[in-house]
Amino acid sequence: MTTMATLKTMAPEAGHFYAVGIGPGSPDLLTLRAARLVEQCDAVISPQAKNSAKSLALEAVRPFLDQQEIIVNNYPMERNDQKTRDRWQRLAANVAKRCATGQSVVQVTLGDPLIFATSSYLLQGLAELMPVDKLHVVPGISAFQTTASRFTEALTLQEDRLTLMSATDLQAVEQALDQCETLVLYKAGGCIEQLMELLRQRNLLSSAKLVSCGEQGDHELLVDDLSTWQIEPLNYMTTMIIKIGNRAWQEG
Ligand SMILES: C[S@@+](CC[C@H](N)C(=O)[O-])C[C@H]1O[C@@H](n2cnc3c(N)ncnc32)[C@H](O)[C@@H]1O
Repeated sequence: MTTMATLKTMAPEAGHFYAVGIGPGSPDLLTLRAARLVEQCDAVISPQAKNSAKSLALEAVRPFLDQQEIIVNNYPMERNDQKTRDRWQRLAANVAKRCATGQSVVQVTLGDPLIFATSSYLLQGLAELMPVDKLHVVPGISAFQTTASRFTEALTLQEDRLTLMSATDLQAVEQALDQCETLVLYKAGGCIEQLMELLRQRNLLSSAKLVSCGEQGDHELLVDDLSTWQIEPLNYMTTMIIKIGNRAWQEG
Protein backbone atom coordinates (compact mmCIF):
# COMPACT_ATOMS: atom_id res chain seq x y z
CA MET A 1 0.00 0.00 0.00
CA THR A 2 1.27 3.51 -0.81
CA THR A 3 1.40 5.80 2.20
CA MET A 4 2.03 9.53 2.40
CA ALA A 5 5.55 8.85 3.68
CA THR A 6 6.53 6.81 0.63
CA LEU A 7 4.62 8.87 -1.90
CA LYS A 8 6.98 9.93 -4.68
CA THR A 9 6.62 13.52 -5.83
CA MET A 10 8.49 15.27 -8.60
CA ALA A 11 11.77 16.89 -7.50
CA PRO A 12 13.24 19.78 -9.51
CA GLU A 13 15.93 18.79 -12.02
CA ALA A 14 18.90 20.93 -13.03
CA GLY A 15 18.21 22.87 -16.21
CA HIS A 16 14.44 22.34 -16.15
CA PHE A 17 11.57 24.84 -16.06
CA TYR A 18 8.34 24.28 -14.12
CA ALA A 19 5.14 26.29 -14.57
CA VAL A 20 3.54 25.61 -11.21
CA GLY A 21 -0.11 26.29 -10.37
CA ILE A 22 -0.50 27.22 -6.72
CA GLY A 23 -4.28 27.44 -6.40
CA PRO A 24 -6.28 30.43 -5.16
CA GLY A 25 -3.79 31.90 -2.71
CA SER A 26 -4.01 29.84 0.46
CA PRO A 27 -0.78 27.89 1.16
CA ASP A 28 -2.70 24.79 2.26
CA LEU A 29 -4.32 24.54 -1.17
CA LEU A 30 -1.01 23.89 -2.92
CA THR A 31 -0.48 20.35 -4.15
CA LEU A 32 2.36 18.34 -2.58
CA ARG A 33 4.13 18.47 -5.93
CA ALA A 34 3.90 22.26 -6.14
CA ALA A 35 5.18 22.69 -2.58
CA ARG A 36 8.08 20.29 -3.17
CA LEU A 37 9.16 22.02 -6.40
CA VAL A 38 9.00 25.51 -4.86
CA GLU A 39 10.88 24.33 -1.78
CA GLN A 40 13.70 22.61 -3.70
CA CYS A 41 14.25 24.65 -6.88
CA ASP A 42 17.07 27.17 -7.41
CA ALA A 43 14.97 30.12 -8.52
CA VAL A 44 11.31 31.13 -8.11
CA ILE A 45 9.78 33.57 -10.57
CA SER A 46 6.62 35.30 -9.45
CA PRO A 47 4.34 37.52 -11.52
CA GLN A 48 3.19 40.80 -10.02
CA ALA A 49 0.45 43.07 -11.35
CA LYS A 50 1.68 46.51 -12.44
CA ASN A 51 -0.42 48.41 -9.86
CA SER A 52 0.06 45.97 -7.01
CA ALA A 53 2.41 46.44 -4.04
CA LYS A 54 3.06 42.73 -3.69
CA SER A 55 2.89 39.47 -5.58
CA LEU A 56 -0.07 37.41 -4.38
CA ALA A 57 1.48 34.24 -5.80
CA LEU A 58 4.69 34.84 -3.89
CA GLU A 59 2.80 35.43 -0.64
CA ALA A 60 1.00 32.11 -1.09
CA VAL A 61 4.28 30.17 -1.35
CA ARG A 62 6.08 32.16 1.36
CA PRO A 63 6.04 29.17 3.81
CA PHE A 64 8.06 27.19 1.25
CA LEU A 65 10.75 29.81 0.57
CA ASP A 66 14.21 29.68 2.06
CA GLN A 67 17.43 29.95 0.02
CA GLN A 68 15.87 30.13 -3.45
CA GLU A 69 16.58 33.16 -5.61
CA ILE A 70 13.36 35.19 -5.92
CA ILE A 71 12.59 37.04 -9.13
CA VAL A 72 9.48 39.24 -9.23
CA ASN A 73 8.42 40.11 -12.78
CA ASN A 74 5.95 42.71 -13.98
CA TYR A 75 4.46 41.07 -17.02
CA PRO A 76 3.24 42.85 -20.16
CA MET A 77 -0.52 42.58 -20.63
CA GLU A 78 -1.21 44.84 -23.62
CA ARG A 79 -3.12 42.97 -26.32
CA ASN A 80 -1.49 41.79 -29.57
CA ASP A 81 1.17 44.41 -29.43
CA GLN A 82 4.60 43.76 -30.98
CA LYS A 83 6.26 45.33 -27.93
CA THR A 84 4.45 42.80 -25.71
CA ARG A 85 5.56 39.89 -27.86
CA ASP A 86 9.15 41.14 -27.83
CA ARG A 87 9.08 41.45 -24.06
CA TRP A 88 7.81 37.88 -23.69
CA GLN A 89 10.63 36.70 -25.93
CA ARG A 90 13.17 38.53 -23.75
CA LEU A 91 11.64 37.09 -20.55
CA ALA A 92 11.72 33.59 -22.06
CA ALA A 93 15.34 34.10 -23.16
CA ASN A 94 16.29 35.04 -19.56
CA VAL A 95 14.69 31.89 -18.19
CA ALA A 96 16.28 29.72 -20.88
CA LYS A 97 19.69 31.23 -20.03
CA ARG A 98 19.24 30.34 -16.36
CA CYS A 99 18.26 26.78 -17.26
CA ALA A 100 21.26 26.50 -19.59
CA THR A 101 23.53 27.23 -16.60
CA GLY A 102 21.93 24.33 -14.72
CA GLN A 103 19.40 26.18 -12.58
CA SER A 104 16.01 24.63 -11.90
CA VAL A 105 13.46 27.41 -12.33
CA VAL A 106 9.86 27.51 -11.07
CA GLN A 107 7.34 30.10 -12.13
CA VAL A 108 4.45 30.23 -9.65
CA THR A 109 0.99 31.09 -10.95
CA LEU A 110 -2.27 31.66 -9.10
CA GLY A 111 -4.81 28.99 -9.97
CA ASP A 112 -3.77 26.79 -12.89
CA PRO A 113 -0.89 27.73 -15.21
CA LEU A 114 -2.84 26.91 -18.38
CA ILE A 115 -6.02 28.88 -17.60
CA PHE A 116 -5.79 32.64 -18.33
CA ALA A 117 -2.22 32.69 -17.07
CA THR A 118 1.00 34.49 -17.99
CA SER A 119 2.82 31.15 -17.63
CA SER A 120 1.32 30.11 -20.94
CA TYR A 121 3.08 32.96 -22.79
CA LEU A 122 6.33 32.08 -21.10
CA LEU A 123 5.91 28.40 -22.03
CA GLN A 124 5.26 29.38 -25.66
CA GLY A 125 8.49 31.40 -25.74
CA LEU A 126 10.48 28.68 -23.96
CA ALA A 127 9.27 25.98 -26.35
CA GLU A 128 11.32 27.73 -29.08
CA LEU A 129 14.44 27.93 -26.92
CA MET A 130 14.59 24.71 -24.89
CA PRO A 131 13.91 21.00 -25.43
CA VAL A 132 10.27 20.35 -24.57
CA ASP A 133 11.20 17.51 -22.21
CA LYS A 134 12.74 20.16 -19.94
CA LEU A 135 9.44 22.05 -19.68
CA HIS A 136 6.85 20.98 -17.12
CA VAL A 137 3.38 22.06 -16.04
CA VAL A 138 2.02 21.37 -12.56
CA PRO A 139 -1.75 21.84 -12.37
CA GLY A 140 -3.28 24.01 -9.67
CA ILE A 141 -6.80 24.52 -8.34
CA SER A 142 -8.33 27.04 -10.73
CA ALA A 143 -10.71 29.87 -9.79
CA PHE A 144 -13.73 28.04 -11.21
CA GLN A 145 -13.14 25.23 -8.69
CA THR A 146 -12.44 27.58 -5.80
CA THR A 147 -15.56 29.62 -6.56
CA ALA A 148 -17.80 26.55 -6.84
CA SER A 149 -16.39 25.08 -3.64
CA ARG A 150 -17.45 28.11 -1.59
CA PHE A 151 -21.12 27.27 -2.27
CA THR A 152 -21.00 23.44 -2.29
CA GLU A 153 -23.37 23.29 -5.28
CA ALA A 154 -22.62 21.00 -8.25
CA LEU A 155 -21.12 22.76 -11.25
CA THR A 156 -22.37 20.13 -13.68
CA LEU A 157 -24.59 17.05 -13.59
CA GLN A 158 -25.46 14.45 -16.21
CA GLU A 159 -24.89 16.10 -19.61
CA ASP A 160 -24.66 19.72 -18.52
CA ARG A 161 -22.32 21.90 -20.55
CA LEU A 162 -19.80 23.95 -18.60
CA THR A 163 -18.25 27.03 -20.22
CA LEU A 164 -15.28 28.94 -18.80
CA MET A 165 -14.62 32.36 -20.30
CA SER A 166 -13.51 35.89 -19.65
CA ALA A 167 -16.31 38.30 -18.71
CA THR A 168 -14.69 41.12 -20.64
CA ASP A 169 -16.41 40.48 -24.00
CA LEU A 170 -20.03 41.11 -23.05
CA GLN A 171 -21.45 40.11 -26.43
CA ALA A 172 -19.71 36.74 -26.21
CA VAL A 173 -21.05 36.33 -22.65
CA GLU A 174 -24.57 36.97 -23.92
CA GLN A 175 -24.17 34.29 -26.60
CA ALA A 176 -22.69 31.81 -24.11
CA LEU A 177 -25.78 32.14 -21.90
CA ASP A 178 -27.72 30.36 -24.67
CA GLN A 179 -25.18 27.60 -25.19
CA CYS A 180 -24.44 26.03 -21.82
CA GLU A 181 -26.04 25.13 -18.51
CA THR A 182 -23.26 26.55 -16.33
CA LEU A 183 -21.26 29.63 -17.24
CA VAL A 184 -18.15 30.62 -15.30
CA LEU A 185 -16.89 34.15 -15.86
CA TYR A 186 -13.29 35.01 -15.01
CA LYS A 187 -12.29 38.70 -14.68
CA ALA A 188 -15.84 39.63 -13.62
CA GLY A 189 -14.77 42.40 -11.22
CA GLY A 190 -14.08 45.10 -13.81
CA CYS A 191 -17.41 44.83 -15.64
CA ILE A 192 -19.76 43.94 -12.80
CA GLU A 193 -22.32 46.69 -13.60
CA GLN A 194 -22.74 45.57 -17.22
CA LEU A 195 -22.94 41.92 -16.14
CA MET A 196 -25.60 42.70 -13.54
CA GLU A 197 -27.64 44.56 -16.18
CA LEU A 198 -27.37 41.67 -18.62
CA LEU A 199 -28.43 39.15 -15.96
CA ARG A 200 -31.33 41.39 -14.92
CA GLN A 201 -32.57 41.48 -18.53
CA ARG A 202 -32.30 37.67 -18.73
CA ASN A 203 -33.95 37.15 -15.35
CA LEU A 204 -30.84 35.30 -14.17
CA LEU A 205 -29.70 37.44 -11.23
CA SER A 206 -30.88 34.92 -8.65
CA SER A 207 -29.04 32.14 -10.52
CA ALA A 208 -25.70 33.92 -10.28
CA LYS A 209 -23.06 33.82 -7.55
CA LEU A 210 -19.66 35.38 -7.18
CA VAL A 211 -16.48 35.06 -5.20
CA SER A 212 -13.91 37.80 -4.84
CA CYS A 213 -10.44 36.93 -3.50
CA GLY A 214 -11.57 33.37 -2.76
CA GLU A 215 -9.51 31.60 -0.09
CA GLN A 216 -7.55 34.80 0.57
CA GLY A 217 -8.48 35.20 4.24
CA ASP A 218 -10.21 38.42 5.30
CA HIS A 219 -10.21 39.73 1.72
CA GLU A 220 -12.67 37.08 0.61
CA LEU A 221 -16.17 38.18 -0.44
CA LEU A 222 -18.92 35.62 -1.17
CA VAL A 223 -22.25 36.53 -2.79
CA ASP A 224 -24.53 33.53 -3.24
CA ASP A 225 -27.48 35.33 -4.88
CA LEU A 226 -26.87 38.44 -6.97
CA SER A 227 -30.56 39.44 -6.87
CA THR A 228 -30.23 40.34 -3.19
CA TRP A 229 -26.78 41.96 -3.45
CA GLN A 230 -26.15 45.70 -3.28
CA ILE A 231 -23.65 46.34 -6.06
CA GLU A 232 -20.20 47.56 -4.94
CA PRO A 233 -16.78 47.93 -6.58
CA LEU A 234 -15.04 44.56 -6.77
CA ASN A 235 -11.47 43.34 -6.79
CA TYR A 236 -10.00 42.09 -10.12
CA MET A 237 -9.83 38.63 -8.50
CA THR A 238 -13.55 38.03 -8.95
CA THR A 239 -15.20 35.01 -10.55
CA MET A 240 -18.91 34.58 -11.25
CA ILE A 241 -20.90 31.37 -11.73
CA ILE A 242 -24.25 31.49 -13.52
CA LYS A 243 -26.34 28.33 -13.27
CA ILE A 244 -28.61 28.67 -16.27
CA GLY A 245 -30.33 25.30 -16.05
CA ASN A 246 -29.87 21.54 -16.24
CA ARG A 247 -29.80 19.21 -19.19
CA ALA A 248 -31.46 15.86 -18.80
CA TRP A 249 -29.66 12.65 -19.76
CA GLN A 250 -30.24 11.85 -23.42
CA GLU A 251 -31.93 8.46 -23.96
CA GLY A 252 -30.16 5.77 -26.01
C1 LIG B 1 -5.29 36.20 -14.93
S1 LIG B 1 -6.67 35.20 -14.43
C2 LIG B 1 -5.85 33.92 -13.54
C3 LIG B 1 -6.63 32.62 -13.54
C4 LIG B 1 -5.88 31.50 -12.83
N1 LIG B 1 -4.77 31.03 -13.64
C5 LIG B 1 -6.78 30.33 -12.46
O1 LIG B 1 -6.62 29.23 -13.04
O2 LIG B 1 -7.64 30.51 -11.60
C6 LIG B 1 -7.33 36.17 -13.15
C7 LIG B 1 -8.78 35.81 -12.88
O3 LIG B 1 -8.83 34.58 -12.19
C8 LIG B 1 -9.88 34.59 -11.23
N2 LIG B 1 -9.31 34.36 -9.90
C9 LIG B 1 -8.03 34.06 -9.62
N3 LIG B 1 -7.86 33.84 -8.31
C10 LIG B 1 -9.08 34.01 -7.74
C11 LIG B 1 -9.54 33.92 -6.40
N4 LIG B 1 -8.72 33.61 -5.40
N5 LIG B 1 -10.86 34.15 -6.16
C12 LIG B 1 -11.68 34.45 -7.18
N6 LIG B 1 -11.29 34.54 -8.46
C13 LIG B 1 -10.00 34.33 -8.74
C14 LIG B 1 -10.56 35.95 -11.36
O4 LIG B 1 -11.64 35.80 -12.24
C15 LIG B 1 -9.48 36.81 -11.97
O5 LIG B 1 -10.00 37.91 -12.68
